[in-house]
Amino acid sequence: MELATVREKFLQFFQSKGYKILPGSSLVPENDPSVLFTTAGMQQFKDFYSHPSEAPASSVATAQPVIRTSDIAEVGDDTHLTSFEMLGNFKFGEAEAYKMKERAIKEAWQFVNLELGVEKERVHATVFKGDDTTPTDTDSEKIWTELGVRVERAGREDNFWGPTGDEGPCGPTSEIYIDGVEVWNLVFNQYYKHSDNVLVTRDMQKSIRPEESKYVDVQFVGLDTGSGLERLTATLQGKTSVWQIEPFASWVRIVDPEKEYESRIIVDHLRAILFLISAGIEPSNKGRGYILRRLIRKVSFLESNPQIPATILAEVRTFYSNQYQLLDLEEVLVVYKKEHEQFEKNLARAKAHLQRWIDTNAEKDERSITELAFYMYESFGFPKELVIEYLVAQGFSVDAGYFEKLFAEHQAVSRAGLAGQFKGGLADHEPQTIKHHTAHHLLLAALQKVLGNDVVQKGSNVTSERLRIDFKFDRKLTDEELKEVEAIVNAKIAEDLPVVQEEMSKDEALASGAQAEFGAKYGDTVSVYTIGEFSKELCGGPHVKKTGELGRFEILKEEASSQGIRRIKARCV
Ligand code: ALA
Repeated sequence: MELATVREKFLQFFQSKGYKILPGSSLVPENDPSVLFTTAGMQQFKDFYSHPSEAPASSVATAQPVIRTSDIAEVGDDTHLTSFEMLGNFKFGEAEAYKMKERAIKEAWQFVNLELGVEKERVHATVFKGDDTTPTDTDSEKIWTELGVRVERAGREDNFWGPTGDEGPCGPTSEIYIDGVEVWNLVFNQYYKHSDNVLVTRDMQKSIRPEESKYVDVQFVGLDTGSGLERLTATLQGKTSVWQIEPFASWVRIVDPEKEYESRIIVDHLRAILFLISAGIEPSNKGRGYILRRLIRKVSFLESNPQIPATILAEVRTFYSNQYQLLDLEEVLVVYKKEHEQFEKNLARAKAHLQRWIDTNAEKDERSITELAFYMYESFGFPKELVIEYLVAQGFSVDAGYFEKLFAEHQAVSRAGLAGQFKGGLADHEPQTIKHHTAHHLLLAALQKVLGNDVVQKGSNVTSERLRIDFKFDRKLTDEELKEVEAIVNAKIAEDLPVVQEEMSKDEALASGAQAEFGAKYGDTVSVYTIGEFSKELCGGPHVKKTGELGRFEILKEEASSQGIRRIKARCV
């Protein structure tokens, strides 16, 4: 069975079972800045698990392109891909876990057995064996046993999933194996994990930290499943590698059949590059843009003739354009070629640097060569995976362990930078994000003025597109209240108040009435931002200097985030 046939059968089957077929989302999740990429089909539906009435249907199914950056270094072997298509079916707002599991498992089994024609003997399932915090999934075990399918118990590592990012639904899983290969993961979302590590119970009264918790239910249970289309198709064709099936095998042949390993990397990366550029990502030095840059550089390094990537991008685009929204080839090539050319220049500089180094250093000991390798990686963007190989091919000996140590130190420094940046819920330090951050402080103070001082901030998230605040309040806000809040913030902007930062002890700050986020941890010495006489918060910044810089403030949406917690999204224009 061909890849496209498996995809189509999957969607048709679930449509016939009453699921609404929806398009896959962009590779950049819109509702969750805490993750870089869409890594699973459920991500675009995350909010519907707690708010099922907002879902377009209670049962939906998709084919979703995903990116998993953790696997990039493994690409080239038989099984790992940077991007793949995930087939999934989803349910929101189910009342009863057992019934939902029974239906989901029966549907999955019917699809595998009757639609895909896989006999029982080739199949086994796994279920969560339970641990200190969550019980054994005896429901799923019973359901599989009744179907006559062999079932095994497995631990949290394999049979518990989610959440994606800081927060969201999660739960025990049941996996389906064909010929010993895992092809489908059924997740039963019986939990919700908050970013402060608290599981919320069905009655929303007790919040139990997972390390102390026993089994707890959420208000609604939900279903989330995922099956990697490429691997499923290969398994059905009796192949052990996705590179043995079409169209992948042909694409590898176009690149260079003599260099199977390198050609697989080139094809894999170009496919991911096409999806990333189509999602609007541009090469850069951080975040998503850096992943794209890294992929392009690696392809450029392996294949200096840009015509071959152009051919593969065209082939890949044709293959997927019926199924997914992809940018025009010309536009993709502009982005690709620009980065390729810049990299070629860097590579030439790195090689020249190497030559100079060889000419001027008499002592070519392993340690210095390794430092040179690291410098070439860090300063010229020489792909990490290739720099050692390259120097060894030039006849040098490199200490891989020492290189990894340098790399780990470098990463620890960048991580510290990143953690600092994301503190306070800021996605980046773009000027618009900083404006939204200051507006966030004004909004909290305005909410307290209109709704009373019981309003406490529960969470925040600030991007260049909008700001989001979660706060404790037990009912929907009226239109009048929202208008009043908006007007107060705009009045404070018009007053052009100064934004002033001071350092003080935490006790002093709290005694002076500065607001702290509920549940957040602070050190003994804290930074406090004051806006005129209007707002005072413990905060690491950054902020604008005067509120007049913010422009006009508008509230976009007010909604429930969870019971007793409201969420407002707003922006400055
Ligand atoms: N979200 C689940 C996974 O990615 C289905 O495995």
